[in-house]
Amino acid sequence: MTRKIGVIGMGHVGSTVAHYIVAEGFADELVLIDTNEKKVNADATDFEDAMANLPAHTNLTVNDYDALKDADVVISAVGNIGLQKDNKEHDRFIELPFTKEAVRSVSQKLKASGFSGVLVDITNPCDVITMMYQHFTGFPKNRVIGTGTLLDSSRMRRAVSSELGIDPRSVGGYNLGEHGNSQFTAWSTVRVLGQPITKVAAERNIDLAKLDEVARAGGYTVFHGKRYTNYGIASAAVRLANIIISDARTEIPVSNFHEEYGTYLSYPAIVGRSGIIEQLKLDLTDDEKQKLQTSADYIRTRFEDTVS
Ligand code: LAC
Repeated sequence: MTRKIGVIGMGHVGSTVAHYIVAEGFADELVLIDTNEKKVNADATDFEDAMANLPAHTNLTVNDYDALKDADVVISAVGNIGLQKDNKEHDRFIELPFTKEAVRSVSQKLKASGFSGVLVDITNPCDVITMMYQHFTGFPKNRVIGTGTLLDSSRMRRAVSSELGIDPRSVGGYNLGEHGNSQFTAWSTVRVLGQPITKVAAERNIDLAKLDEVARAGGYTVFHGKRYTNYGIASAAVRLANIIISDARTEIPVSNFHEEYGTYLSYPAIVGRSGIIEQLKLDLTDDEKQKLQTSADYIRTRFEDTVS
């Protein structure tokens, strides 16, 4: 079966996503889309220059929405670096005036293409934009997913692993809610060294609130150094695309629609070829439930304000 992925938006994030796919040979067909014709064509030629030295071949198509009709996954990485540069308030909503217009136009073209795969949204503010994509395309909710706190969870795992001197892959657990400032680490879900982290933290005098802050501020830590982030988010998005294409049915924290909150928010789900296959039920503490409600209310209100 041919594996086909589309990437819309070839800025720092989209081109890193595309490079990762090409370098690893994760797709047979890759469709690259950007409003800047010169840039996207240059990226395609650059990838083709790489191919003689890569382990796999990828067929590239440039700026053709019709080619997305039979794509398995389309990744939205549309953004505005100019707005991001002014991001002094540490708020991903700074990009909304640009991305809310872009998402309307991309949704229309995506719908017209007859695309019936899974749409993965990276574009910020991630949860609101993911909900807008679903709203404007009318695609089934299980087929529209945001990368959400998959990235923040990996930042939390980095923080915990460096505190304990272990591999981040040996840290399990989730950041929940908004891919933004109202997110939080649900410490009741985090396990390390075969134990709940709360137990290990008490024994070793580890300040979990500090680690929570490292995860929440992680994007801005990178941002301060180079004015954008790309590798962490690209790894999260490509991992998600691979889970979908291979119907892996993996438990993963991503932004998905929750009826009880009336909004998209990050919460772990089983993900496979048809997108969200099953939503999990976590045993959160009362404090975590409260934080999730606050985050959900924030995302839903911002969405309603934006589309009204
Ligand atoms: C970050 C951007 C992708 O957190 O929101 O790195």
